[in-house]
Amino acid sequence: MKTLVFNIGQLWLAIPGEQPLGGVEMSALKPLEKAWFRIEDGLITQIGQGNLPSALPDEVQVDCHGGMVFPGFCDSHTHLVFADWRPEEFLQKIKGMSYAEIAAAGGGILNSAQKVGLASEEQLFESAKNRLAEVMRFGTAAIEVKSGYGLSLNSELKMLRAIARLKAWAPIPIRATLLGAHALPQDFKENRKAYIDMVVQELIPAACSEGLADYFDVFCDQGFFTQSETEEMLKAALESGLQSKIHANELGLTGGVQAGVKYNALTVDHLEHLGEEEINALKGSQTMPTLLPGTAFFLKLEYPNGRRLLDENLPVVLATDYNPGSSPSGNPWFIWSLACIFMKFNPQEALVALTLNGAHAMGLGSSHGSIWPGKAASFVVLPTIHQLSMVPYRFGGGFPYRTFIHGKELNSSMDVF
Ligand code: NIG
Ligand code: FE
Repeated sequence: MKTLVFNIGQLWLAIPGEQPLGGVEMSALKPLEKAWFRIEDGLITQIGQGNLPSALPDEVQVDCHGGMVFPGFCDSHTHLVFADWRPEEFLQKIKGMSYAEIAAAGGGILNSAQKVGLASEEQLFESAKNRLAEVMRFGTAAIEVKSGYGLSLNSELKMLRAIARLKAWAPIPIRATLLGAHALPQDFKENRKAYIDMVVQELIPAACSEGLADYFDVFCDQGFFTQSETEEMLKAALESGLQSKIHANELGLTGGVQAGVKYNALTVDHLEHLGEEEINALKGSQTMPTLLPGTAFFLKLEYPNGRRLLDENLPVVLATDYNPGSSPSGNPWFIWSLACIFMKFNPQEALVALTLNGAHAMGLGSSHGSIWPGKAASFVVLPTIHQLSMVPYRFGGGFPYRTFIHGKELNSSMDVF
């Protein structure tokens, strides 16, 4: 199938995008005006400006009415596979209980782990399918999905197999992360080492031998896993060929950034707590900082100092952290507004962080995250928006938009409920 997308007032990220952009380039980014592009068999083939090329036989035409087009969102940090929501914890939160207090009262990650333990692989797959369809309707064109609510060899593998089924089903690329150390299960409270040994000696080898994981993750934070425990697991993962994307510094300055940098993590994610040492470690590394403002919003935490990271010219990433406990939304439009309002991103910096840099944060930078010949024709059209700042300003994405995945417009066939 051939398609011509034309009458684009502003085409954003019409660049090769072979590398992520650092803060300075993110803020300097300009759109291509009065643009058009061609698609063939799901890939972008040609981009132009001004006069339209003559139509090809059988070419489908998409009129953008002078509005805006940008690449589909690349959501590089989610926990899309889980057994059930945790609305009871939301009510506890309204009454004033903190995330830590809710976890201590039997909620939190251990609550989700109990539910995953009882669920079948089929149930996990079916419910995740619905959520994947939901985020694709938001314009998400590539996504990372973690395990981490299993907390035992069998349940973690069950989650990873559900992610593998999701990969086979989904029309968008999915990257699977083995979140082997998300929380310490109750039975290991007196023997932390035994759990870490299980991760290193059994879980990582089993996940690798079945080819179930693209990345490895640890929750390195206050009350969860220490820097040295994290380092031991990151080292083992790397020796098995798995690069890491880790949860770090959400609840305290606990050395997660340093551990990630030391073992060449692709990303360190959260970073609500950030000191000079962490910033210096990131500056001398290939590790990308990923910010998840949906979590700070939902848990009423301090927002990470995103402005500082951008001003240090780091390739900052934004993602939703979609999960039932700390960020029960996969809406990138809302993340865009949170980044601008609470972390002083300008609108185009946030767009790059949600698209191109997100693609690189899951190893998909050569196929996703920008609009360029050879890349996937996965993009969003906003026919009524003529200025980028209107997007985060009208928070939530309530205006009309059309989503295209590999050249095909999404329609109700994605409704699998
Ligand atoms: O990214 N911080 C650690 N884990 C997840 C969510 C945990 C939960 O289910 O509460 C997060 O916020
Ligand atoms: Fe997370």
